[in-house]
Amino acid sequence: MNQLLQLEGVSKSFGGLRALHDVGFSVEAGEIFAIIGPNGAGKTTLFNCIAGAQKPTSGSIIFQERRIDGLRPHEICRSGLVRTFQIVKPFLGMTVADNVRVAAYVHERRNAGADAVARAMLKQVGLDDYADVGADELNIAQLRRLEIARAMATRPRMVLLDEMLAGLTATETEAICEELREIARQGVALVVVEHSIPVVSSLCSRAVVINFGEVMAHGATLDVIRDPRVQEAYLGKVEAVAWS
Ligand SMILES: Nc1ncnc2c1ncn2[C@@H]1O[C@H](COP(=O)(O)OP(=O)(O)O)[C@@H](O)[C@H]1O
Ligand SMILES: [Mg+2]
Repeated sequence: MNQLLQLEGVSKSFGGLRALHDVGFSVEAGEIFAIIGPNGAGKTTLFNCIAGAQKPTSGSIIFQERRIDGLRPHEICRSGLVRTFQIVKPFLGMTVADNVRVAAYVHERRNAGADAVARAMLKQVGLDDYADVGADELNIAQLRRLEIARAMATRPRMVLLDEMLAGLTATETEAICEELREIARQGVALVVVEHSIPVVSSLCSRAVVINFGEVMAHGATLDVIRDPRVQEAYLGKVEAVAWS
């Protein structure tokens, strides 16, 4: 068994609202896996449950053969699973390097060690020239790169990326996709929430489609996006956006 992350019967309710119902899928080490579905489908809630920001109402989430549902976000992060946010949340009053250094302290005790990790991660995402500028001086594509560097500084085995590519130009998107592929080649699994079907097709080997909080399809990306139910429920509606 090579499953890094396994969800079984995961449900989450907010009062009377059923945001997730009986969600199950698994992600293997080093793969790039997509979660797709319309706005309001429950994708961010799913990330919140996996990363520990919210506790599922029922079901189990297993990461590296250990149950993590109910653990705190920092415990889950220390175990090697980290997420980025749909709305980027850097510390704008700090330098770019300090933003990454803070994340490196998840494993590094010494300042010099954290500093070295921060420099290496900034180099990996192409922000080495910006190490000493304030994070508030970065544009949106650079902020997304900073999010990747911060996530990678925690030495993850899996990163959850919530709409990392939204609002970027085609050129910026392709550049970041290439970096994500390189990270996956290094053995880190990536789970991406992404609306653009061309991007999902080129980046992700497998995908799950969530619709109204439930799994509608799950499997190889091309099979999933050709599924007639998916076409009807999702792709028809967002095609104009996704292909623009
Ligand atoms: N903290 C919350 N309290 C109440 N309802 C929520 C909360 N978070 C999300 N929801 C609801 O859960 C549903 C799924 O939302 P979300 O997970 O953000 O969807 P997606 O990320 O797929 O667009 C929506 O109906 C949303 O309004
Ligand atoms: Mg969302």
